[in-house]
Amino acid sequence: MNITRNLILLSSLWCSVSALATGFEGPQSDAVSRGAYIFDIGGCASCHTNKQPLGGGVELVTPLGTFISSNISSHQQFGIGGWTNAQFIKAMREGVSPDGEHYYPAFPYTSYANMPKQDLLDLKAYLDAQEPVAEATLPHGLTFPFNQRALLGVWKLFNTGDQWISDPSQSATWNRGSYLANGPSHCTQCHTPRNFIGGLQLEKGMVGNEQWPDGEKVPPLVDANQLGFGGWSQDDIAFALEVGMTPDGDFLGGSMSHVLENTTGKMTPDDIKALSEYLYSLNNP
Ligand code: HEC
Ligand code: HEC
Repeated sequence: MNITRNLILLSSLWCSVSALATGFEGPQSDAVSRGAYIFDIGGCASCHTNKQPLGGGVELVTPLGTFISSNISSHQQFGIGGWTNAQFIKAMREGVSPDGEHYYPAFPYTSYANMPKQDLLDLKAYLDAQEPVAEATLPHGLTFPFNQRALLGVWKLFNTGDQWISDPSQSATWNRGSYLANGPSHCTQCHTPRNFIGGLQLEKGMVGNEQWPDGEKVPPLVDANQLGFGGWSQDDIAFALEVGMTPDGDFLGGSMSHVLENTTGKMTPDDIKALSEYLYSLNNP
C-alpha cells in the first residue's frame, strides 16, 4: 500500500466520522458549513436573534417608528421553514415576500442583493438546519403613512439597490474587501449618509451618518483630513475589526459592538485582511 492510498483511506474515514458528528452527509454538510460563514459575514444574528437564535423580535427604533425583526428560523408556521429557494432569493435580493409584499429597507436587502445565488442557497441550507422557533413575528410599530407597505414600491423606484461591481484595476483581496463592505457585511448601511427618503447616498461614500436611530452618530470611514480613522494603519484597522479596540485604546461600542460580535469578530483572517486593505486604500489612494 502506498502513501497516497493510505492518505485517501484516512481522509475518507475522517469524512465519515465528521459526517456522523454533525449529523449531515455529503454535499449537504458542505452547504450548511459554508452557509454558517455566510450567515456570519452577513451579520444576520445582530438583527434576528433576541431571545432565541433566529427567532426575531429585535427592535430597531427609528424616527418612522419601531421596526421589529422577523422570525427567520426553520419553523414551518412562524419562521421561513416552508419557503422555496426561489422565495428566499427573491426576499434577499428584491425585498419581496412570498405573498408579493415589499419589505422595509430596515432589512438591508439592498446590500444582500449583491450576493451570488450559490451563497444565498448555502445560507438557506444553514438556516434550514437550525432549530425551529415557535414564536410569531410581532407587527411593526410604525406611524401613518409609514405603515403602508405599498408605498415601498414607490421607494424602490428611487432606490434600485446598491449594485456592487468589481474593479479590475485592483487586487483580488481589495475586491473581496470592497464586496464585503458594500455587499453582505453591509458596512455602508450605517456608515453612508441617506437621502430624504432613506436611500443610501452611495456617491458620497462612507463619510458617516449623523442621524442614526437612537440618536447615535456613526463616524466616517472615509476621512479627507486623515485626522481620525484616515490616519490609521492597515494593521490598526484589522485589530479594531477583530478585537474592537482603536489605536487610542478606546473600545468600539453602540451598534458597532453587534457588528464586532456577530460579523467582523467571526471573519477569517483573510477576510479581515481584505476588508482592512480596502478601508485603508479609501484613505490612502
Ligand atoms: C439591520 C437589521 C437586519 C439585518 C442585519 C438582517 N435583517 Fe432580516 N429583517 C430585518 C427586518 C427589520 C425584517 C422585517 C422587514 C419587514 O417586515 O418589512 C427582516 C426580514 C427578513 C426576512 C423576511 C422574513 C419574513 O417572514 O417575511 C428574511 C428572510 C430575512 N430578514 C433574512 C435575513 C438574513 C438571512 C440576514 C443575514 C444575511 C438578515 N435578514 C439580516 C432586519 C435585518
Ligand atoms: C449597525 C450600524 C453599523 C454597521 C452595520 C457597521 N458599523 Fe462601524 N460603527 C458604527 C458605530 C455606531 C460606530 C461608532 C462606535 C463608537 O464610537 O464606539 C462605528 C465605528 C466603526 C469604526 C471605528 C471608526 C473610528 O473612527 O473610531 C470602524 C473602523 C468601523 N465602524 C468599521 C465598520 C466596518 C468595516 C463595518 C462593516 C463590516 C461596519 N463598521 C459596520 C455602526 C455600524
